[in-house]
Amino acid sequence: MEPKASLYPIRIPKMKFSFQNIEKSFSDLRVIDDFSREIDHGELVALVGPSGCGKSTLLHMAAGLERPSGGSLLADGKAIRGPNPERTLMFQENALYPWLTLEQNVALALEFQRSNKRRARELAREWLAKVQLSGFEEYFPQQVSGGMRQRAALARAFISRPKALLLDEPFGALDALTRMTLQDALRELIREAAPTVLLVTHDVDEALFLADRILVFSQRPAVVLKEFNLAHHEKTHDLSEFAPMRREILGLLGIRAEADTAAAQADPDSVSYTTEEVAA
Ligand SMILES: Nc1ncnc2c1ncn2[C@@H]1O[C@H](COP(=O)(O)OP(=O)(O)OP(=O)(O)O)[C@@H](O)[C@H]1O
Ligand SMILES: [Mg+2]
Repeated sequence: MEPKASLYPIRIPKMKFSFQNIEKSFSDLRVIDDFSREIDHGELVALVGPSGCGKSTLLHMAAGLERPSGGSLLADGKAIRGPNPERTLMFQENALYPWLTLEQNVALALEFQRSNKRRARELAREWLAKVQLSGFEEYFPQQVSGGMRQRAALARAFISRPKALLLDEPFGALDALTRMTLQDALRELIREAAPTVLLVTHDVDEALFLADRILVFSQRPAVVLKEFNLAHHEKTHDLSEFAPMRREILGLLGIRAEADTAAAQADPDSVSYTTEEVAA
């Protein structure tokens, strides 16, 4: 049998964002204060900051769901005036339709744009396979785990080939281990498709693992306290080489992550553990 025609050209055209002196207020509430940054083609920039500082608001502006109160926000040199499938937003809670199977949910993203249903289903199966969901195509969302639902949501986000992905704590509702496997899946998809990504996360390790750049925001009204560059690092989930950066980011977020030096010096073996080999 002939192998099936594979996916359409994998590399997705990318999008460049230009935030220029962006300000945002809701009535009297000043949320974003003079935010200026370029997000380059194919870059993954993580936004971290205290709750309520305005991270989701920034994503919503990039998605075209909110308008800035001041400044200009451009995508590929053009002002963002409203939502567009080229810029896909993905939330923490998967937004799968409960009355559709995983395959139908994933295919739907294409059916909105294309007429050929059969081809959409075929592509949905391919994207589900990429996120290790082969065999679950006919399952309904409530019949699979939360992690599997988010995998399907990832497949749905990528299938319509968005130039930009706007991810708002996409794995925030998952346990730490499941989250790591989802981060691996996301990284694989990004490597293949290379869209431009803005990722809001509360998980500093997630930002360190996935991002080329991390922007740490202040309390509202949000300004960038510091920017960290991680491009060109080959990363694993063992992030020990980033420990100083991690400490600094947590410090900026008001979380103390340094040992009490005096106490540590007095008792350098205070934290110890042993390992035991277990026969397979
Ligand atoms: N549509 C809206 N109308 C009025 N106020 C809003 C609206 N959207 C957001 N806000 C306010 O703007 C501020 C920033 O909200 P936003 O959701 O961007 O924060 P966040 O950084 O994403 O927080 P979290 O980490 O908790 O998700 C909050 O005080 C919120 O109440
Ligand atoms: Mg938010």
